[in-house]
Amino acid sequence: MNWTAAAYEQYQRDGFYIQRGLLKTEELDLIQGQIDMLVQGDDAVDGMHREREKSGAVRQIYAAHEQNETFADVVRNPSILNPVQHIIGNDVYIWHSKINVKDAFEGTVWLWHQDYGYWMYDGVQPQMMSVMVFLDQSTINNGCLMGIAGSHKWGRIEHYSDEVTTSYKQWCVTPGELKSRVREEDITHLTGNPGDVLFFDCNLVHGSSHNMSPLPRKTFIICYNSIANKPIAVENPRPDWVVSRHFEVVS
Ligand code: SIN
Ligand code: MN
Repeated sequence: MNWTAAAYEQYQRDGFYIQRGLLKTEELDLIQGQIDMLVQGDDAVDGMHREREKSGAVRQIYAAHEQNETFADVVRNPSILNPVQHIIGNDVYIWHSKINVKDAFEGTVWLWHQDYGYWMYDGVQPQMMSVMVFLDQSTINNGCLMGIAGSHKWGRIEHYSDEVTTSYKQWCVTPGELKSRVREEDITHLTGNPGDVLFFDCNLVHGSSHNMSPLPRKTFIICYNSIANKPIAVENPRPDWVVSRHFEVVS
């Protein structure tokens, strides 16, 4: 499935684009069939990495694409890979991948941030992007992703490290930056159906609310980096599950 010129224009203008119905029902069924096993799995046994909510519920599962064939196939899906290579302008490798579980009632907020707001500390340039594969219906009630259209054009803006709001230490845009830059009308709720795929720029300001609904909001997020943008040495490098050192071109 190739993008039209209008799709690329929309991506460049807004910093995001949703390709509806990208995954086929069979592909989705295969993924859905593995999720419970992955949520219940054990890092020490399967080599993935799980982050938990304060409640203990699984919040994220990192590195499924390295350990599980079904997820390895998704990251090489040509309908995802072709536009990513086109936008980044080079061959890419996987920076990291994560299944964001956002469980019914328990999945918590992601405060407004740019992914490059913290990736810059990992010693890379912003030749990177993310792809969010919707595994469940993603609605306002269950905490769909929200994006600020056009915010990728601001470049990287000021962030601070939040260690109290959730179980997960997160770099977030400062309230001062938000108040001076974000207009209500620029907030887009990125809702969709299982199989829809959202592509977004690493400087897009985005976040999501608590899951207030009885329905889970699972997504699989793949972060791609240009093969020419391997991280330089930094103080306190982060672990492989979040800053991958597997510099293999995805094809
Ligand atoms: C993210 O920004 O990486 C996750 C946001 C979400 O899952 O809503
Ligand atoms: Mn993010």
